Amino acid sequence: MCGIVGIVSDKNCCDYIFDGLRLVQYRGYDSVGICQKDGMQLKIDKAKGTIEKLVQKVEPLQDTKVAIGHTRWATHGSVCERNAHPIEGKNREWVVVHNGIIENYQTLMCEMQKEGEVFKTQTDTEIIANLLSFNNYQNPIENLIWAVRKLQGSYAICAVKKEQENCIYAAKYKSPLYAFCNQDIAMLASDPICFPEGDYYKLEDGELCEVKKGEIKFFNMHGEQIQKQQLKYQKIRVMADKGSYQHYMLKEIYETPEALERLIKNFVNFDFKKLAKYKFKKVKLIGCGTAYHSCLMGARYFIKYLHVDAEAIFASEFRYDDYVINPQTLCIFVSQSGETADTIAALEKAKRKRAKIISMTNVPYSTIASLSDVVLPISAGVEIAVASTKAYSCQVAGLYLLVMALKGEKHFNRAIKQVQEVILASKNFFVNMSAFAEDISQKEKVLFIGKGCDYITALEAALKLKETTYINCSALASGELKHGTLSLIENKTPLIVISTNKKVHDKVMNSALEAKSRGAKLYLISFKPPKICELENFDFCLSLPKVCQPLLCILAIIPLQLLSYNVALLRGLDPDKPRNLAKSVTVE
Ligand code: M6R
Repeated sequence: MCGIVGIVSDKNCCDYIFDGLRLVQYRGYDSVGICQKDGMQLKIDKAKGTIEKLVQKVEPLQDTKVAIGHTRWATHGSVCERNAHPIEGKNREWVVVHNGIIENYQTLMCEMQKEGEVFKTQTDTEIIANLLSFNNYQNPIENLIWAVRKLQGSYAICAVKKEQENCIYAAKYKSPLYAFCNQDIAMLASDPICFPEGDYYKLEDGELCEVKKGEIKFFNMHGEQIQKQQLKYQKIRVMADKGSYQHYMLKEIYETPEALERLIKNFVNFDFKKLAKYKFKKVKLIGCGTAYHSCLMGARYFIKYLHVDAEAIFASEFRYDDYVINPQTLCIFVSQSGETADTIAALEKAKRKRAKIISMTNVPYSTIASLSDVVLPISAGVEIAVASTKAYSCQVAGLYLLVMALKGEKHFNRAIKQVQEVILASKNFFVNMSAFAEDISQKEKVLFIGKGCDYITALEAALKLKETTYINCSALASGELKHGTLSLIENKTPLIVISTNKKVHDKVMNSALEAKSRGAKLYLISFKPPKICELENFDFCLSLPKVCQPLLCILAIIPLQLLSYNVALLRGLDPDKPRNLAKSVTVE
């Protein structure tokens, strides 16, 4: 899930690469590199860490006309300059950047080592660079086809050849790659967000291209030239700006109300009649991480309001485990990026079993969207911070609206009004969490409890806090505390209690007090202010604005997202780029 950018232009190649890398660094940010080409001269610079470190280091060549850049999320080999891309093959004849995983690289490497080839990095990518140099066909596209035919796994590759003037060669299989061309420049990138205004191309699996200034030629795996349709440019780049906020994460939490407003607009215009023909008996909601948590919420809505057998499943489990899936199954894939490898593989499996496929994604041009029968865009706007915030709220609201639309017009209209109430309430609900955060930032473990949908909010809050602060967090259905986890409670262990359902409020309180008796420090997020007699039990209490119960979870997660953000800052961490992670997980 690295980020790739390539450019052919008469001027400013390095600047284009740096700007592009800044926009795709959400895909991985442990190291970064660039290769510039000026005639036959190839110059490679790399840095461990940020793009700015690389920028400081790079001296543009006198007349760079081609450049490829890469921001890495390590899969094979440690994080160091040597393993950073671009990676060169023998005699620097070819230099490549790669996103994906070459699963058979060790076998191929052994074969090549027997032929005397020397490998200098620990990466799977080096095999691509060496294969390209190994069998030097006259036509570079033939060369690339010969090389990628040997690969198993996934790849988006951009490659430059020393002896070929001003050209980039690219290939795509199961990792995203886009191309752009106008009179002045031609570009390749992992995300069209890097391109200037103008329509662009999406490469499909098994497609290759040759990119020159003002011209892109596309090929299939037989080396035949193919024609491709352009995709309409959408004004996304301007939105990928931090504005006056210190971090994307904070900006994105604050964008929740406007994101929900956009979601409503799109859902009101959506033709739900398309779904009426779907006669389904069971629903599977599939996603990873935060998206999986919205699936859990969605499954509850299907069961409660449509009385349909619904289940949320991790995409990484769905793809390998046994589930009863048939044409009467409706599979809903939830993914902010629309590029998560596990979710794509799960979707492909559901398709093979002839299930009906709906996807709910934030990226309408994504792979998941393109593979689905019906796409419901969540319209959250670009989300850059690794921690997903506004997208989660839109996914939950979107699943609720979908269920209400399936239930019938009257319910859908009422649901729209309910989401509008949430938007209004959320506008004044960006509470100050600094005192609470101060307390939590000192801890090394935090527990969250809730019941029903509050348990799901607890799961999501725990994921957010551990992801951004590295504090060990667990979430439990409150009734489960006494079945094992209570043993973790020591003096002042923080227990964050989420309670938005008055029917089970007392039950949740009982579990909280059982923990309190054993030393836990309690913090409460609840649908109502605590009674005077309850107050002394809690170190912090927050009551949520009054909105309809099923959507209260959207408000409950906001202070918990802010808590994660504030704790990260207090611990001196960058909340936008937690260690070891990447925004879009495009490898298994
Ligand atoms: O792009 P997706 O929604 O498919 O991503 C799924 C997860 O990787 C993602 O939600 C992850 O858990 C977030 N970083 C959590 O904040």
